[in-house]
Amino acid sequence: MNGTLLITGASSGIGASLVRHLAGDYEVLALARRIDRMNREYGDHPSIHPYELDLADADGTRSLLADLVAEWGHIPYLLNVAGIWNTKSLLELTDEDLRLAMEVDAFAHVRTMQALLPAMREHDFGRIVNVSGTGVLVPMAGWAAQYASIMARNAYGVTAAHENDDRNVKINLMGPGPTSTEMYDGPLPPTACHSTVDYLLGLDADGPTGRMFWLGYEVPLFPELGATELFGPFHADEEYLTRVCDPPEELRG
Ligand SMILES: NC(=O)c1ccc[n+]([C@@H]2O[C@H](COP(=O)([O-])OP(=O)(O)OC[C@H]3O[C@@H](n4cnc5c(N)ncnc54)[C@H](OP(=O)(O)O)[C@@H]3O)[C@@H](O)[C@H]2O)c1
Repeated sequence: MNGTLLITGASSGIGASLVRHLAGDYEVLALARRIDRMNREYGDHPSIHPYELDLADADGTRSLLADLVAEWGHIPYLLNVAGIWNTKSLLELTDEDLRLAMEVDAFAHVRTMQALLPAMREHDFGRIVNVSGTGVLVPMAGWAAQYASIMARNAYGVTAAHENDDRNVKINLMGPGPTSTEMYDGPLPPTACHSTVDYLLGLDADGPTGRMFWLGYEVPLFPELGATELFGPFHADEEYLTRVCDPPEELRG
């Protein structure tokens, strides 16, 4: 047994498939709203523990996470899988759509990380996998709310990875590919991502963090801008200020 693993989105699709795959190797805390379904599916499995949670309820989420940390202590593995489905165009989106997308797809992922990271840091061990989507890297028409909230999810995850790289804590993103689930009628089975998740949960101390993986491939998240050279240094010298404040003729429009 590797230890305790908390997974959201555990009632269907990719999350449910991962619960079945990981149970036995991990003590699995399975979170979703459909508790009856999880009890029915996992009820008699000795290492799966279903909990009812609406991730759109910020206070309820914080409260349950605090209870779980109090009960289970250091939870070294976290899989953020839960997500919403919204194909509306930008003009159709309501405030409620925008709010729900951010609550479930982004803020909930922050709340689970905030709850589990302190003990991961204290014990100098943690592995976090935030399910993402490569679709958000090349947004098309529709799915505006979903693209935006998953981009936020990516940013929170990568920032958290940098903030915790002084410890043996690895936080990576994982695109499951176009998968056949309740959410989407894709060509891949939910099992397609298992080996990538296994790899990310089993990373060594010198393994990658703050990166994105898609079915065994690493996907570049950000363009190679030479960011330090372009945007820094923060305490710019005179040459730098002259260069960026006095750009070449062709950029002046
Ligand atoms: N399928 C794909 O092709 C694909 C591609 C790229 C990324 N993804 C990502 O993969 C993840 C899993 O999606 P899926 O395809 O497996 O879809 P799914 O079968 O619809 O699963 C979604 C899961 O999220 C949970 N969830 C949704 N809203 C929730 C809420 N308010 N509170 C708590 N849990 C909530 C659902 O549980 P309850 O309804 O029981 O609460 C369910 O377990 C999502 O983050 C999605 O963006 C999927």
